[in-house]
Formats: sequence, structure tokens, C-alpha cells
Amino acid sequence: MSARKPYVGGNWKMNLNGQQAVDLASALADGFSAGDQVQASVFPPFPYLEKVGKVFAAKNSPIQLGAQNFYHQPNGAYTGEVSLDMLKDVGASVMLVGHSERRHVLGETDTLINDKVLAALEAGLEVILCIGEKIEQREADKTDHINTGQLGYGLAGVSDAQMARVTIAYEPVWAIGTGKTATSQDAQNTHKVIRQALGFLYNDDIANAVRIQYGGSCKPSNAQELLAQTDIDGGLIGGAALKPEDFLAILQAAADNAPVPA
Ligand code: 13P
Repeated sequence: MSARKPYVGGNWKMNLNGQQAVDLASALADGFSAGDQVQASVFPPFPYLEKVGKVFAAKNSPIQLGAQNFYHQPNGAYTGEVSLDMLKDVGASVMLVGHSERRHVLGETDTLINDKVLAALEAGLEVILCIGEKIEQREADKTDHINTGQLGYGLAGVSDAQMARVTIAYEPVWAIGTGKTATSQDAQNTHKVIRQALGFLYNDDIANAVRIQYGGSCKPSNAQELLAQTDIDGGLIGGAALKPEDFLAILQAAADNAPVPA
């Protein structure tokens, strides 16, 4: 067990309507009271950010509001895009960057992902940088190569001090939304490689401090075992984040694995 505070994020993706988003936020705010042991955030669709933020504020919840996406330019002729200032304005404090659906469905490149990481950090926000290999890359024995490559590209130019606001999410693409989870041992092995790579890119102190979340069909039935692994510091949850009882159970599993205060 490490001294890192576990961190669980709920990525709602392109799901729910406004009322469902409010109801989910309300149930999470009512059910989550372990904010001193576990960091928690949710990533609603853009149109519901403000409503969800209001629910958390009204209930004095420690759950942070996050955005699934943004554009790195401050303003201008970028039809359809949303800036960091706009997201800060509605209360978002953490940004998802490099999610596999944005890489592989929406075509985001490592260069764009790096621009976004740098812009969000320069704006004073927290970042969750997602990385992960596809099944054909795993089968070709390229898992570590792909993950360390995405890590290095994504973090290019990020300073030591800025790393305090960066979390890495390892999400094997073949495990996302498929019901297939990496075994806890496979996930641990990859998390360890990612942490070693952080040591090469930065130093041991930073490598030991950065949280590395696991994502990909994480659910209450496997969360406990995944979160008990030495280098797994939390989860980035998709499908199970849409059901309050499931997300709360995963938050509880994270609290159960939190370091005991000295
Ligand atoms: P699932 O938990 O639905 O597999 O999604 C994981 C994910 O992509 C979180 O960002």
C-alpha cells in the first residue's frame, strides 16, 4: 500500500439526459463522505456541467467537476470547441486528455494531446492523461512501448512542479466498455512500467507521487482486487460510473485501500 491518496474518476461519456445527470450527481453527493481519504471527480457531458456543479456546491460535496474535452486555444474561430476559461467558468477543475475514444474515434494525435496537457496545466487545472494499448498492439508485444510512448509524448514540456497536478489513467483499449478487464496482475505489471517510465522522465520522487488509475471495465466486483495492487492508485470508470450504487462501491473500495493516516 502506498502513501498516494487514491483517486477515482467517473467518465460519463455521451450518456444521460439533464435530469438523470442531476439525479446521479445528487446520489453521489449524498453517498460519498470519504473525501479526506479518496479524491473523486466526475466528467459529465458539457451541457450538464453547470447543473452537476450546482448539485455538488449545494450539498457541499468534495467531488470535483471535470471536463471530458476542451480545445487548447484561448478563444477564436474554432466552431464547436470549448475553451479552458469557459470550463473554469462553470466550475470544472480537472480535464481528461488523451482518452482512447478521442485518440481512436475522434482522431486526436499525440501532438494535439500534448498541446492540451500543457494548456490545461498552464491554466492552473488538474489533468488526467489517458494512455493505453489496442488489442493488436498487445498481441504484438508492444504494450510497454505504446504506453511509455504515449506517456512521453503527452508529458513533453511538463515541468516537475506541474506534475503535482497530473494523474495518469492506464486504460487498455481492449478493456474499455467490453466487459474484459485486465487481470489485476497484468494491470499491475503495466502500471509498474509506467511508474518506472515516470522515473526516467522525471525522478523517483515524482514517479512515487503520481497517481496511476486503471480504467477498462472496472466495476464493484473487481475494484477491490485491482485497487489492492501496489501501483494501482484508483480508477477511471465508464459504465459503472453511471450507476450511483456501483460508483459509490468503487469509491468505497478505494477508501478501503487508502493509506492509514500516520
Ligand atoms: P468502462 O468502465 O465502461 O470500460 O470505460 C472505461 C473508460 O473509458 C473510462 O474513461
